[in-house]
Amino acid sequence: MSIDLIIRDAEVLDGNGGPAVRADVEVDGGRIRHVGTATGRARTEIDARGLHLAPGFIDVHSHDDGAFIRHPDMAFKLSQGVTTCVCGNCGFSAIPARPGADPASTSGGILAGLQGEFSDLNGYFAHVAAQRPALNAIMLVGHNTVRAMVMGFEQRAPTRPELATMRSHVVQALEQGACGFSSGLIYRPGRWSDTDEVIALASAARDFDALYTTHMRNEGDHLLAAVDEALRIGREAGVHAHISHHKSAGRANWGKVGDSLARIDAARGAGQRVTLDVYPYTAGSGRMIEYFNLDHVDRELAEVIRIASCPDFREFEGRMLVDIAAERGIDVTEAVKLILTAPGAERTICIQFIIDEADIETNLRHPDMMIGSDGIPDLRGRPHPRLFGTFPRVLGEYVRERGVLSLAQAVRRMTSVSADTFGLLDRGRIEPGRFADLVLFDAQGIRDTATYDDPKREAIGVKAVVVNGQLAFRDGVHAAVGAGQMLRYRRSAWQQE
Ligand code: ZN
Ligand code: CU
Repeated sequence: MSIDLIIRDAEVLDGNGGPAVRADVEVDGGRIRHVGTATGRARTEIDARGLHLAPGFIDVHSHDDGAFIRHPDMAFKLSQGVTTCVCGNCGFSAIPARPGADPASTSGGILAGLQGEFSDLNGYFAHVAAQRPALNAIMLVGHNTVRAMVMGFEQRAPTRPELATMRSHVVQALEQGACGFSSGLIYRPGRWSDTDEVIALASAARDFDALYTTHMRNEGDHLLAAVDEALRIGREAGVHAHISHHKSAGRANWGKVGDSLARIDAARGAGQRVTLDVYPYTAGSGRMIEYFNLDHVDRELAEVIRIASCPDFREFEGRMLVDIAAERGIDVTEAVKLILTAPGAERTICIQFIIDEADIETNLRHPDMMIGSDGIPDLRGRPHPRLFGTFPRVLGEYVRERGVLSLAQAVRRMTSVSADTFGLLDRGRIEPGRFADLVLFDAQGIRDTATYDDPKREAIGVKAVVVNGQLAFRDGVHAAVGAGQMLRYRRSAWQQE
């Protein structure tokens, strides 16, 4: 009797952070059966001499809710060695949704590809599973989505009944397996909420011991106040708080991530559950209309903006705003207005160079910092290269080239720490009995190749990716086995009834 797969003579990093150990890994029926010396044969065998084998990487910060529908091959993530994405971040989630309404109306271009007839998490999971996606997904339920559904874009506090309705949507998603509640407090309509509203909604996660994740209210001048708010929400709601894409934005604020981490570590030291993630790039990216007040356009910001996707001006994609302005003989602030008053303004995605390289290193040196891509999967334009490059970039640039963190620790923070935090049952470690989500890579050669000019390029050095025991990617070829599962927080995967 032969089993499904044996990966022989790999340098195994089990995800716990210890040094690599040479071993064979046996996979059968979707799970890891044995780690050690293989005795039998398998239908597929891979000679992994000289290569490292790790648990599949977990992208704890994705906006792939729509990508799982539009691009079920998820090639931009699979090719990085990612086997699970946490969707629904920054307060924007596929669910809840009103049947018949445009599911992308609140999120604009962020959840690119979002379409389909579903209203709740079970419906979304059924819809995505039918596309046979390449990767696993787990979902957060988003504050902006819930608030827009119940209150539209009202710039006020909710009434008691509105708050109760919002909370019931959050509870329903958690009951169906969401791993937590996410906020995006710089975005509309979340920015019109006060702290008490967020506490009231986040506290719904307490009964599930689930997460509150946040794109904080401010990541620049008021970063530290925003961290205090996030910590307070976690404490008063009685939930684990997770801070997304930790950064200090804008030159005047560079270096503040050190103070921010000190606050977070103090809270952790006092027993509060707080975690974070970061992406390894000096630019952010998001919906351009959220960053500007058209009555007085921020020139300093406008000067560091590059256009990623722009339905009205496809010719602007991939170009800096200053160059567009110079070419047209207009001021850079006028270029902002030109784009943001056009019909497709809501769907224009920009890239903003606002982060200091030293702060990325400070973040990555934090012993429990997780990795999340924050990629925005709009493949029509020129997306931020983090969509294709995040995980190989950490392993190539920050581990191998700069020595900011060790290989084993980087893997730990892409796998076991993430799986434990986001409640991915039996994933994130190479151990018998766990699901066989695996990535085989060349530690000496792995690197990202996606750049701002040419962002849709798959990384090199990822040799094979296994998802739920099936070989999904090998030597640059996507096998289209569609083995991804829809995961529920600390529970068995969702299944069609
Ligand atoms: Zn965000
Ligand atoms: Cu995000």
